[in-house]
Amino acid sequence: MKQNETWWKESVVYQIYPRSFNDSNNDGIGDLNGIREKLDYLADLGVDVIWLSPIYQSPNADNGYDIADYEQIMDEFGTMEDFDNLLKEAHEKGIRIVMDLVVNHTSDEHAWFVESRKSRENPYHDYYIWKDGSPDQAPNNWGSAFSGSAWKYDKDLGQWYLHLFAEKQPDLNWENEKVRHEVYDMMTRWFEKGIDGFRMDVINLISKDQSYPDAKVHGGIYGNSMEYCCNGPRVHEFLQEMNKEVLSKYDIVTVGEAPGVTVEEAKKYAGNDGRELNMVFQFEMMDIDHGPYGKWTPVPFDLKAMKANFNKWQKGLEGTAWNSLYWDNHDQPRIVSRWGNDSDEYRDKSAKMLALCLHMHQGTPYVYQGEELGMTNVHFDSIEDYRDIEILNAYKELVLEAKVLSKAEFMKGVHTLSRDNARTPMQWDDTENAGFSKTDPWIKVNPDYTKINAARQIDDPDSVFSFYKKLIRLRHENRIIPYGSYEQYDPENENTYMFSRSYEGKKLIVMCNFTDEEQRIDLPETLYEDGYCVLISNDMEKPLEKSMRLSPYEGIVYIL
Ligand code: NOJ
Repeated sequence: MKQNETWWKESVVYQIYPRSFNDSNNDGIGDLNGIREKLDYLADLGVDVIWLSPIYQSPNADNGYDIADYEQIMDEFGTMEDFDNLLKEAHEKGIRIVMDLVVNHTSDEHAWFVESRKSRENPYHDYYIWKDGSPDQAPNNWGSAFSGSAWKYDKDLGQWYLHLFAEKQPDLNWENEKVRHEVYDMMTRWFEKGIDGFRMDVINLISKDQSYPDAKVHGGIYGNSMEYCCNGPRVHEFLQEMNKEVLSKYDIVTVGEAPGVTVEEAKKYAGNDGRELNMVFQFEMMDIDHGPYGKWTPVPFDLKAMKANFNKWQKGLEGTAWNSLYWDNHDQPRIVSRWGNDSDEYRDKSAKMLALCLHMHQGTPYVYQGEELGMTNVHFDSIEDYRDIEILNAYKELVLEAKVLSKAEFMKGVHTLSRDNARTPMQWDDTENAGFSKTDPWIKVNPDYTKINAARQIDDPDSVFSFYKKLIRLRHENRIIPYGSYEQYDPENENTYMFSRSYEGKKLIVMCNFTDEEQRIDLPETLYEDGYCVLISNDMEKPLEKSMRLSPYEGIVYIL
């Protein structure tokens, strides 16, 4: 079935993690003026939309995903005037700006929570999820995503509050109509300022099962709260209300972060009927290399599982909803280290193959800062060099307290899949601190910045940066790339990935070798025909043949 056409389906989004992007005032922390200085870089890359990870006032327990004031800019990042200038200049360059909306929870320093915990009678008390119970017995066995129980006891109130993430991130009570309208009003004020959309943090967790039952324990001592929070009973009602009250009034783009989302649920969140959001980030693909203790116990990459997942989502949403496409973000490790090969020999080539692979699917692609340079995972030896609350809490729980993982095992997980891999400073050039700041940054720079940096790549036609630039340009020039329907071939092959796209009489064939050895691909009879030429390749251009040889990490696309 044909997809209806609109600007955000033809766009490429670039995610900025402001803390690590560019430090204009040399305090070691990236900021809004730093982003403004790099708008020409982003315009050159060709992206249409910037998504800014949270820039609001925050005590930074979780780097801004703990918001203390939705309408003030974080001091470290600048002022509202800096934001207005950034928005204006981005718009002048034809780049839209999407903000991060974090409304499953706030910071415990948000005025609502400060009031809420004052007394049971306080008008804000019911803005959060409080439960009675004795101090030694949490209301249920739910665990927090950042280790420990998801409940925290407040001894003055004699009640527990729910925090699915850190203690300093109490969950808002979306059952309370006042909370919902506070959120809608705040969103409206941002839209009136002229922003172009929201990426919505864990938005499918906002409606909790109101009976708060114990959840299954999968290892460790806590139950998996996600069972009773993901895609909860009233989530679609809430999002439809938000859509009616706010979203439907503006020409904007929305993407919901949705752990635990299924294809069936995604059709509701991101349906073409436009009743809720435009698209969601699904996590099934990101979980394929997680082991018994999740990301702390990585398992080898399984290409067949990745292909099956693409097939499921490409086919599943075709004609009815819209996919988002991503490899990297601030919560994921670097893709070239994860599913490519970050050795000197294959780093650039595998980074290009992965880029080509992702960008040739149906959906809106997201590029995370540094991905366009082939930035890699970082391997700090000492746990002291890490900053992420998720890493530090898990280390305490799994290594120091429960002792289920040795320090060496845990560090392997950190080096392979942890979030700080994506959070080291952006590598602009080969000067001190990678040109990010003149002061020691808040987190160390990846030592490979002397080899991998923007200055080296921008004018090099063979760089990873130039390859991304070409992919983005091709998407803008060929409607088959955003809109073509998808067909996968040879799903059992563990080394290569082949699929085709079709749109209005045009065809694309995409072939990728995910290994460091040469591979053979035999085209199905039905697919081969005369007249194909190369659209993009990370190796030598060669004609399409019935039997193809792909060099290590080769990626090639043919167009008819
Ligand atoms: C998802 C965000 O992407 C992540 O960085 C954050 O820690 C959690 N939600 C909590 O807000």
